[in-house]
Amino acid sequence: MPTTEATPYSRLATIYDHVMRHVDYVHWAHYVSSLLARHKVKPNRVLDLACGTGSLAIQLYRQKFDVMGADGCREMLDMAIEKARKLRYPIPFYHRNLLDLSDLPPCDAVLCLYDSINYLMSLEMIASALEEVHRIVNLNGVFVVDICTESNSRQYFSNMQSEDSGDGFSYRRHSYYEKGVQYNKFDIHFEDTDEVVKEVHQQRIYSLSAIEEIVDKSPFDIVGAYGGFGYAPPTEFSDRVHFVLKK
Ligand SMILES: C[S@@+](CC[C@H](N)C(=O)[O-])C[C@H]1O[C@@H](n2cnc3c(N)ncnc32)[C@H](O)[C@@H]1O
Repeated sequence: MPTTEATPYSRLATIYDHVMRHVDYVHWAHYVSSLLARHKVKPNRVLDLACGTGSLAIQLYRQKFDVMGADGCREMLDMAIEKARKLRYPIPFYHRNLLDLSDLPPCDAVLCLYDSINYLMSLEMIASALEEVHRIVNLNGVFVVDICTESNSRQYFSNMQSEDSGDGFSYRRHSYYEKGVQYNKFDIHFEDTDEVVKEVHQQRIYSLSAIEEIVDKSPFDIVGAYGGFGYAPPTEFSDRVHFVLKK
């Protein structure tokens, strides 16, 4: 069967919501809302950066936030735009790379969640993204960003293989973790065209201290760091860490 290689998310986009159907975006939106309240931020406008197919933005809209989304992958954004259109939710979506947020309106809260920042493969790139976000956040506004930890990568992505199928497609996924880089390889078979598309995703896994150091050098202050979806300080054993950075 012919196999073509596609850029990350460009073909996964159409099945992303199926692959991520275990993710509770309602809970995640409530959690984000609780972090904003905890840090006394009542945002007039929230930007969900690397918003993917817009699931979190949609939940935030339902929770009465004035929300916008941005993502670097056109195909993911198209899915987000279509979902919001069908629901008649007027959520603006922008095609933007984390490293260039030109012409986005100022916001009181910017989010970048579900390991999206891990796609930046160097601390220098994270520093540039922090500069960009800082430029568009209003004074006293916050940047809420999460990271996938090494513990999570070792536990769930160390040479893991899985397969699944849905309406008109099936996929095999091979995940592994090596020297601070997490790889996810997807082979997606689209049954209507009999085409196999391969996507390779790479995420750099950073230690908590590396992130803290790079934020310390940035114009942001760390005002909160939380393990998982709770409110306790993170450890290297947390699967995920949410940081709240203040301007
Ligand atoms: C794991 S998905 C998370 C999507 C969404 N936040 C969610 O919770 O479902 C990672 C997203 O990051 C986006 N992304 C990766 N690198 C990016 C970059 N440099 N600029 C903008 N978006 C990026 C991808 O296109 C993808 O939509």
